Amino acid sequence: MNSIRALDTEEVADPSPAPLSLTALSSTGAAEIPGLNLSRSLPSATIAAIRRALCDSPVLVFRDQSLSKSQQAAFSAQFGELEGHIGKLSDGSTFPLVHTLTNLDAERNVVNMDVAKLNWFWHTDKSYHAVPSFVTILHALEVTPEGGETQFSNAHLAWAALPPATQARLDGLQAVHDWVASRINSGTSPATAAQRRERPPVTHPLVRTHPETGRKSLYIGVHVSHVAGLPESESKALIAELTRHIGKPEFLYTHRWEKGDVVMWDNRALHHRALANYEIAAHPRVLNRTVVVGTRPV
Ligand code: OGA
Ligand code: MN
Repeated sequence: MNSIRALDTEEVADPSPAPLSLTALSSTGAAEIPGLNLSRSLPSATIAAIRRALCDSPVLVFRDQSLSKSQQAAFSAQFGELEGHIGKLSDGSTFPLVHTLTNLDAERNVVNMDVAKLNWFWHTDKSYHAVPSFVTILHALEVTPEGGETQFSNAHLAWAALPPATQARLDGLQAVHDWVASRINSGTSPATAAQRRERPPVTHPLVRTHPETGRKSLYIGVHVSHVAGLPESESKALIAELTRHIGKPEFLYTHRWEKGDVVMWDNRALHHRALANYEIAAHPRVLNRTVVVGTRPV
């Protein structure tokens, strides 16, 4: 038996790569991983190490990358199934699996900013799905000379900072997440009838437990329509209070984009938003985007 194990192909064909070195970028769970070329196929041990790194650092930054769309898809697919999208391109077709966030078209005209506007509000990706996203991966192709950062709020830290009496009041509550509400909350064009059929409202715990770390976190954002079972005014006030809470500086990491950055984040541990703090018509901001399907929040 032992001699057969010694010939195990995994051990022979996949020599252990050097351990990942992480450089902290903040005390709120953001870190940089230098020295990897994400356009190449990475050993499975490296992918496993990146997954483990996400548990401590739900925002991971890889600098100076140059990925084609298919290379980005291949890198992303090593973390799970790639997610389809609900947003539409200007020709009416649905976003491809690797799609591009852009503010300007080739003639430097401002494109339909609906998707971007949604991103200006705190959210986690696809929380309007019964099974929302695990990681989102953005690759910066063009960046703005100033502003245009992506801001992350650590949802574990936000939960842990609440007074015990508030935690006791919130734990066990359920929130309804809904594409229709998300469009209303963000002031973007209303959901179409087809989108309503495709994405009916879903209910998730207001306080979720991370499936790998076991840590609890607040789970809210722009896609939330209301907290189930509360009178409307109370629900509104609670959502407003928690939204203010997650925006406190002590929970945040603000990513200043450089061309070539790949940023990968765990939606199960964070809220995030884009900062609309640059002159949109003046500077292209272009990022390729992939999303990996996650797990049902509990
Ligand atoms: C996203 C997102 C923010 C940004 O891609 O899911 O929210 O800064 N992006 O573009
Ligand atoms: Mn997002």
